[in-house]
Amino acid sequence: RTQLRGDEVIVVSNREPYIHEKQQDGSLVVRRPASGLVTAVEPVMRACSGTWIAHGSGSGDRAAVDRHDHVPLPPGEDEYQLRRLWLTEEQEQGYYYGFANEGLWPLCHVAHVRPVFREQDWEHYRNVNQLFADAVVAEARSEDPVVLVQDYHFALLPAMVRRKLPRATILTFWHIPWPNPESFGICPWRREILEGMLGSTILGFHTRYHCKNFIETVDRYLEARIEHEHSTITYGGEDTLVESYPISIEWPSPEEAREWPSPGQCRTELFERLNIPAGHRVAVGVDRFDYTKGILERLNAVERLLEKHPEWRDRFTFVQVAAPSRGALEEYRAFRERIERATARINERFGRPDAPVVRLLAQHHDHDQVMRLYRAADVCMVTSLHDGMNLVCKEFVAARDDERGVLVLSRFAGAAREMPEALVVNPYHVEETADALHQALTMPPAEQRERMASLRSTVHEYNVYRWAGRMLADAARLRLRQRVSDRV
Ligand code: G6P
Repeated sequence: RTQLRGDEVIVVSNREPYIHEKQQDGSLVVRRPASGLVTAVEPVMRACSGTWIAHGSGSGDRAAVDRHDHVPLPPGEDEYQLRRLWLTEEQEQGYYYGFANEGLWPLCHVAHVRPVFREQDWEHYRNVNQLFADAVVAEARSEDPVVLVQDYHFALLPAMVRRKLPRATILTFWHIPWPNPESFGICPWRREILEGMLGSTILGFHTRYHCKNFIETVDRYLEARIEHEHSTITYGGEDTLVESYPISIEWPSPEEAREWPSPGQCRTELFERLNIPAGHRVAVGVDRFDYTKGILERLNAVERLLEKHPEWRDRFTFVQVAAPSRGALEEYRAFRERIERATARINERFGRPDAPVVRLLAQHHDHDQVMRLYRAADVCMVTSLHDGMNLVCKEFVAARDDERGVLVLSRFAGAAREMPEALVVNPYHVEETADALHQALTMPPAEQRERMASLRSTVHEYNVYRWAGRMLADAARLRLRQRVSDRV
């Protein structure tokens, strides 16, 4: 961080860093989202007084909460500024819902949902990327800012910025997986996307595996020079370092942890709120309502557990928090209906009218509520079919300062590589997942403690500051190298 002090930093992301909400009385409330990204990047912005460029959340068909183009942040302070870009309904539809979420999202996740590629969506995606790239250039006060580009919404932007600001240091972080060359190759605009991303100075993924897939994809479809030893791609005379930076969470401070109610208290509250019969064991899942999260497979595993182990009937409750997400898309609506049907089926088979087995809570829960839920649970299930990293498993571990509770974790989440002390499963294998759930529910406290202590020390050490710190240290190193070579 300090290595970049004095340099200009510009962040580009689709979502705004703060949520501005209008209350019923018309007043404005500003909330900080429970996202690690803001936590990690904000200290850098404060040190460098930069600009954060994002899509104004009141764009399109949603009523704007306020319409200021420039907003000082953090709220009440004036350390850096938010620059909002407003999109029309058609632009939002084509760029965000269409190409990003019906095209790139399923393309990169390979969760057996077909990507949809529409020419019109692609055009909006390209135009919106250009709009954001122009804003980067317009906001830049120096010829060599550090530009932090977030995620699959902006694959084309790095090369667009590079054309106008050849001396910028562009760090692009791809928060979702990168598939193998065959899978990626079905995208009609694969070449444009790869060329766009290679405008970056550094291209970050969560795991080495995703870096390797990306490098192989470039090797297959572009005439680029690849230096495997340094993980560098040279294309069009420019170098891109392809590196893994596993994202994480902010580890709770001792002050924050002291404020938490005890796990026993969290449990009592949960049992009262949901009317769970005393003596039940509880497993939880916390996700956006998204088909990549393996919620259906998880429910099938719960059902299988109750078939195989009748001793858990009337002794087990599964709580699934599913925050509504991208509900304007048909695929997401259909997925939600499938989950609701499976929930009804399992409750019909194994629940009692006053004590359903599966509790589906399809609302947004804030960070504090989720932490209490984690503390109340015996087991946390993360069964993504594919996930760049997944932070739910890291948050669960951070919440358990009592060193109790068991994590069941999909081998297809990036986090599985860092968290082998979890019960790691293949979520497509219902039997294996049901067995892991049974093992979790019967695990002796000493073993829980051993596994949890080890998981906690990993997540504590590899926290989100390290994620940002490593990336920025690499950027500082490359900037220095550029300055030295300029002098020669
Ligand atoms: C994933 C993406 C993020 C995105 C988040 C929520 O984690 O990597 O870029 O912000 O999902 O999705 P949404 O479409 O609501 O922004």
